[in-house]
Amino acid sequence: MTFMSTISPRARSAPESGIVEVVNYARGRDGLIPLWVGEGDLATPTFISQAASEALLAGETFYTWQRGIPPLREALTRYYQRRFQKDLSPEHFYVTGSGMQAIKLAIEAITSPGDEMVLLTPAWPNFAAAAELSGVRPVSVPLRFEHGTWQLDLDRLEAAIGPKTKALFINTPSNPTGWTASRDDLSAILGLARKHGLWIVADEIYALYHYAGGRAPSFLDVMDTDERVIFVNSFSKNWSMTGWRVGWIVAPPAIGQVLENLVQYATSGVAQFMQRGAVVALDEGDAIVDANLAKAAQSRDLLCDALIATNRVETLKPEGAIYTFLKIDGVTDSRAAAIDIVDKTGVGLAPGTAFGDGGSLFMRACFLRDPAQVAEAASRLQGYILGR
Ligand SMILES: Cc1ncc(COP(=O)(O)O)c(C=O)c1O
Repeated sequence: MTFMSTISPRARSAPESGIVEVVNYARGRDGLIPLWVGEGDLATPTFISQAASEALLAGETFYTWQRGIPPLREALTRYYQRRFQKDLSPEHFYVTGSGMQAIKLAIEAITSPGDEMVLLTPAWPNFAAAAELSGVRPVSVPLRFEHGTWQLDLDRLEAAIGPKTKALFINTPSNPTGWTASRDDLSAILGLARKHGLWIVADEIYALYHYAGGRAPSFLDVMDTDERVIFVNSFSKNWSMTGWRVGWIVAPPAIGQVLENLVQYATSGVAQFMQRGAVVALDEGDAIVDANLAKAAQSRDLLCDALIATNRVETLKPEGAIYTFLKIDGVTDSRAAAIDIVDKTGVGLAPGTAFGDGGSLFMRACFLRDPAQVAEAASRLQGYILGR
């Protein structure tokens, strides 16, 4: 009997990341410009790290609140007042060990094995994989790619809802497509959820990365307080804290004890000293967030303008998030193309095959980087595309 044959089929069938495969292939090469993973190029600002270090050195090394320390849950209420014009109570917030864990716990909280969860694709692969690990079948509804942009097909979304559907997973602005739901889209999706008695899992972690100005529309703008909507969020992208692994959930206080128990049996809480850093990020980090947004906007223009100018790229500029999801004319195998591009240009892209239905002909580039470096990547990609 082999080890693998005795492993749970559910765990065994969890997919390897198609992004990591290409990263592992070319990691560490000289002159590499890595646009493949979803993070910026700056370390966490010192004032945030310092708050965490001080708390660590001061001995904040004990077990802590399962739901998150009260000062962090209070700082989250202030953040939602400032950025979302919403008055939520600390009881709406649950601190998690990353956005990814927020997703996992949200799915665990609202589904049972055998249920289905509908999601819009192309999508970050972890949504579907997290569902499968909970015994939930992910049902894909591809967005329509038309004239270089992505559109929601509401009829198709409704047609995917069946007797086993428990939740709609909506990521807006989307990784990888940049599709950003309008207020009308959100109202319509909420209408479907109400009509069919479903939960919505709302992943709005890129809400502030919205290039038309202001933040992206949010379910918070269209829902009543305490509907069946559970938000997953993260410190990773706004405050350059990807390596911290701290996120949060916003959910109706009525399910608070359930979420607290799920945290208890997953990690038993997020390290208190890291939460001290997160408080400072929220309360004193607006300038950092705004600088990240400005950098993303500039780099998006540099990269997308250069690529569109080749006339061989169908993708227009994304409305939100930190990625362009490139469709280069003639590319039929995005995995092979990502390997070829990194070999020939030293620019690391993520193959669209990793992002589920509708993504296989595309490649994802994250532009949350130094504009000079993104300009260099854009020029190398231009050369590659025009030389094909
Ligand atoms: C849409 C989306 N949701 C959630 C996450 C998870 O973020 P993290 O686990 O770093 O907090 C990511 C990370 O790339 C993402 O793109």
